[in-house]
Amino acid sequence: MVCGIIGITANEDSLAKPLGGLIKEALKRLEYRGYDSVGFAVITRGGVLEVRKSKGMIDAVAQRLGFDSFTGSTGIGHTRWATHGGPDDRNAHPHTDCGGRVAVVHNGIIENHRELKELLVAQGHEIRSETDTEVVPHLIELFKARGYSPYDAFKKTVEALRGAYAIVAIDVDEPNRLFFARNTSPLVIGIGAQGRFIASDVVAFINYARKVIVLRDGEAGYVTLNDLLVEEMTRDGDTITWRPVDVSSRLRTVEWSPEMATKEGYSHFMIKEIHEQPYALASTLAAARESVESLARLLAKSERVLLLGAGTSYHAALTSALLLRKYAGLWAEALISSESSWYLKTLRSGDVVIGVSQSGETIDTLKGIKEARVRGALTAAVTNVIESTIAREVDLTAYIRAGPEIGVAATKTFTSQVALLSYLAVRTGELRGVLKQSNTSPVYKALEEIPGVASAIISSVERHASWLADAMCTKSSAYYLGRGLGLPIAMEGALKLKEIAYVHAEAYPAGESKHGPIALVEEGFPVLFVVVGSDDEDLIKSNMEEMRARGARIIVVSPKNAEEISSLADFQFEMPVLHEIASVITYVIPLQILAYYTAVRKGLDPDRPRNLAKTVTVF
Ligand code: M6R
Repeated sequence: MVCGIIGITANEDSLAKPLGGLIKEALKRLEYRGYDSVGFAVITRGGVLEVRKSKGMIDAVAQRLGFDSFTGSTGIGHTRWATHGGPDDRNAHPHTDCGGRVAVVHNGIIENHRELKELLVAQGHEIRSETDTEVVPHLIELFKARGYSPYDAFKKTVEALRGAYAIVAIDVDEPNRLFFARNTSPLVIGIGAQGRFIASDVVAFINYARKVIVLRDGEAGYVTLNDLLVEEMTRDGDTITWRPVDVSSRLRTVEWSPEMATKEGYSHFMIKEIHEQPYALASTLAAARESVESLARLLAKSERVLLLGAGTSYHAALTSALLLRKYAGLWAEALISSESSWYLKTLRSGDVVIGVSQSGETIDTLKGIKEARVRGALTAAVTNVIESTIAREVDLTAYIRAGPEIGVAATKTFTSQVALLSYLAVRTGELRGVLKQSNTSPVYKALEEIPGVASAIISSVERHASWLADAMCTKSSAYYLGRGLGLPIAMEGALKLKEIAYVHAEAYPAGESKHGPIALVEEGFPVLFVVVGSDDEDLIKSNMEEMRARGARIIVVSPKNAEEISSLADFQFEMPVLHEIASVITYVIPLQILAYYTAVRKGLDPDRPRNLAKTVTVF
């Protein structure tokens, strides 16, 4: 399950708004993680546990259930993306014990929930939902009934769980404590003037706390207004040991400003983040040398590199593999994370495996990285999130600096990934002696100009917003075709259209399109071509001719001086004439904007595409 969770403990009198309102605000910021149901629980001054939850999206549910009116000093909240149990009121979190004294929110999957449920039912507990999560409050209740203190009962419960979890619990018998446990799913503590917070992502509480501690797998504990206890659980066969952890050295200050997690006047996060690309690229590229240097030095001595990624990050990995081959003369291959274990079987000692992941939490990528480590590979990560799970799992990390990305559809993080990976390829080529200074200088110069170029492309494409909106909204299918570096960009454009505008968009190598896909093409069928650089221009022209002859409506993203290409198209996104590395970073922008306006014209919400969540921590 990919969900957003929040816990708050505060001095009620010093709060800027009632606790229920603060929880609502946090959940709104976590909405990108799931939005099929929502709920909260607070412990009132009178020591009563109040729980409100329902199917539906946060604004509507919060208004209907009156979140804002609930006061108290300790509470939890949850926004859900359903896996176990449908998205209905009963399965919405928080879940409670039979006695209504314990409430729990959870992100992840408890793999042994069936056997735990059987055990609990045999002990007389009434399980009311279909979720895996509900076993947790009942287990706490069970251990308390056996004489354990609330915290010890919580720890005994954690010991019984298998799987992935970030859990926050409250208990009326310890009304000022937030109990927490983490294994695989992210959890971060925030320490602020008004209170202490614990959430799936710092964006949940960034308005109130910027000093944070990222929890690690196997850690559990509790936080109060004045106290924090973190313990680490280790298993050795059947023996479980808890050891206190000194987390003071892990306290850090978040540099992101609260404004970065708001829409700042844009209609949606997606379009805001598209517009943020010049800044994201400038920040990423300004630190690129420092960020990639260790990895480039490692690759300079290596023979083979495998890049793993899912969704958009896979497309970034594909561009990287092509660039490492071309600019660094290195054997490089991109793998879809969830398929990678088939390929990782033949890893050789000295191979480098790089996980590309915006969030640093995608479980398919994490699994591939772990497997690569076990097989003796050196591992690295390219990610946007400091201290994310994948970042901590690998030997080396290179960070993009795109800032928080809230829109479910990745935009600014994709261009930042491609920018950083391009830098890596060139720097590796330099260190391997494949590129001479005369070859690298124009590339570095082109990279310096990228933020300005991105800005100009956004302005010029936005001028066609209304045409863009009309272009695809009546279509049910489209092809996105490219060759070489154009192909991963076409793949990324097709993914954007699919995921937010619900248009079936299929990306193909342009040369392969005549081996089957062309059979679907008839009058008016949209075919988008992405032309990056001039290497394959003549071949692409043939593919365009083939499509045109069958009545396709041809849209092309290509340099504005590619006149013959333009003459074969019904519409050309006129791109600036750039070094191919600059083109591969920026030519996706029109496709992002096309997808965005298509979704908006269809009345869809691009920030909340159905069935999707931003961070996927399930297999
Ligand atoms: O956080 P990650 O980069 O590992 O996420 C990978 C994919 O889940 C992600 O790129 C997904 O495909 C996005 N919805 C794309 O817009």
